[in-house]
Amino acid sequence: MMRECFLREVQTDWELAQGNLSCHFCIIMPKLLFLGDIVGRPGRQFLSERLPALRERLSVDIVVANGENAAGGAGITGKIASELLSSGVDAITLGDHVWDQKNFENEIDDLPTVCRPANLPHRNPGRSHLVIQCGGFRLAVFTVLGRNFMGLKADSCPFRRADEKISALSDQCDAILVEAHMEATSEKVALGWHLDGRVAAVIGTHTHVPTADGRVLPGGTAYLSDAGMSGPYASVLGRETRAVVETFLDGMKRRFPVAESDLRLCGCLIEIDPESGLATNFERIEVTDRQD
Ligand SMILES: [Fe+2]
Ligand SMILES: [Fe+2]
Repeated sequence: MMRECFLREVQTDWELAQGNLSCHFCIIMPKLLFLGDIVGRPGRQFLSERLPALRERLSVDIVVANGENAAGGAGITGKIASELLSSGVDAITLGDHVWDQKNFENEIDDLPTVCRPANLPHRNPGRSHLVIQCGGFRLAVFTVLGRNFMGLKADSCPFRRADEKISALSDQCDAILVEAHMEATSEKVALGWHLDGRVAAVIGTHTHVPTADGRVLPGGTAYLSDAGMSGPYASVLGRETRAVVETFLDGMKRRFPVAESDLRLCGCLIEIDPESGLATNFERIEVTDRQD
């Protein structure tokens, strides 16, 4: 992380690690890039091609991405998580597809920068939150599953679970990102208002369709109902259009292969004031395969 300073030209990662983030002469607002659900091999390949340059161009400090659809469109494996991390993702969140890949329940505990939803039963393996360090800045990240129209059922109320996590994390971090992995827009919007002024961001995932309501709420929490997926948009939510349409027509079950074209990375960029832990700026991000 390098930042302009009125007194000196730059601050280095090492200087920031000494806790110099509060220098009143420096404009130091850590930038968080959040990317929505990465879908299948096409999504992973596009991410690895584009993320390094995107990080550089936007001066991103921390990248958090949802990986619940990274393996063939459903779930993730330890190997694929490592691949995403080596592509420039710092932390991976998951959703209702968390356990779709066989044996991932035996791998997740060995992945220190991967977390499963926080409101699954306590006996589920894996971390229920992460704290990501960047220089002297500490960002806590956790996901809550919605309780409406979701396949995998949350074990506890996402609103109360978020309250508990925020209380428990307050002295372990400088800011908190909450991912609202939910189907119902009303549930996501309500969670955004419930947490406004207490966390840096509430970002929705799961529905795979980017929404146009991103902003910083009055209390200082960046909010977006859905980040959109990072994958093929010539599709139905990432799957081949023909197969899904046929199933709507005849009601027959069939395989839904991951689609391959119109690749995009979708998400948002949030600047965070490390003193208050709140957002100072929100911008929606979309990178397409038609851009250089
Ligand atoms: Fe999901
Ligand atoms: Fe998803």
